[in-house]
Amino acid sequence: MGRLDNKIAIITGGASGMGASMAELFTKEGAIVIAADINEENLAKISELENVEGMKLDVSSDENWAAFTKAVIEKYGRIDILINNAGISSQKSPQDITDQDWAIMHKINSFGPFLGIKHVSKYMKEAGKGSIVNTSSYTAIIGSGLNSYTASKGSLRAIARAAAAELGKSNIRVNTVFPGVIETPMTANIGQFKEAMDMLVRATPMGRLGQPEEVANAILFLASDEASYITGGELVIDGGYSAQ
Ligand SMILES: NC(=O)c1ccc[n+]([C@@H]2O[C@H](COP(=O)([O-])OP(=O)(O)OC[C@H]3O[C@@H](n4cnc5c(N)ncnc54)[C@H](O)[C@@H]3O)[C@@H](O)[C@H]2O)c1
Repeated sequence: MGRLDNKIAIITGGASGMGASMAELFTKEGAIVIAADINEENLAKISELENVEGMKLDVSSDENWAAFTKAVIEKYGRIDILINNAGISSQKSPQDITDQDWAIMHKINSFGPFLGIKHVSKYMKEAGKGSIVNTSSYTAIIGSGLNSYTASKGSLRAIARAAAAELGKSNIRVNTVFPGVIETPMTANIGQFKEAMDMLVRATPMGRLGQPEEVANAILFLASDEASYITGGELVIDGGYSAQ
């Protein structure tokens, strides 16, 4: 028996990195996964996995979310799990950040998950249950990164807590994970800067960076019925970085 048997799970950003790792793990545990992403090339690849359907979605578009959730309901009948995982990052220094940089970052990393909660919770309420997990970042917890990325992930943290408080009475759980530096395409460029990489590794109590599977395993637990009384939960997955 799988830990997600018969569950219909949407994973945004499901075509790459941690999202792709979750898609693989969730299907092994019995779920049907809808990998929702803006990258059509990677969507085609992830759709080759059994029980994964890739669907195009721009998480920052209200209209896209409305049409997307309607299509999922028409095809699968319900949505049990939503993983708000899609995101973008930027290394721009505070002095270089423009209005537009700020707006794009927040539209994808913060408004995107808000829209996911808005549209999916409508159907979860009708079903009388649901589980939502958001991918924030350790930068939202520690004083690291005076930039639009950290701000957007802090905003997501607040949105998630508010959603947990609001949706608990509808039996919809909302939890959030805070990964440290995980080796995915998003962080691949750090590898080119040996000094930066060495510094990050040295600064991590466990002495290494994280792997996408290590985040996927934690999210699997929160998404599953094993976490049936956990809502508004915040789980740090960073090798001890933020504990210092
Ligand atoms: N890798 C890390 O070190 C790290 C650490 C903390 C948090 N995170 C967060 O984890 C999540 C997953 O990141 P990852 O490292 O797997 O990166 P990734 O770049 O491999 O995956 C992100 C995915 O999001 C998709 N995406 C971007 N904009 C989108 C949009 N508007 N609509 C739909 N999909 C969109 C991309 O196409 C991509 O497939 C992100 O929210 C990221 O901010 C990553």
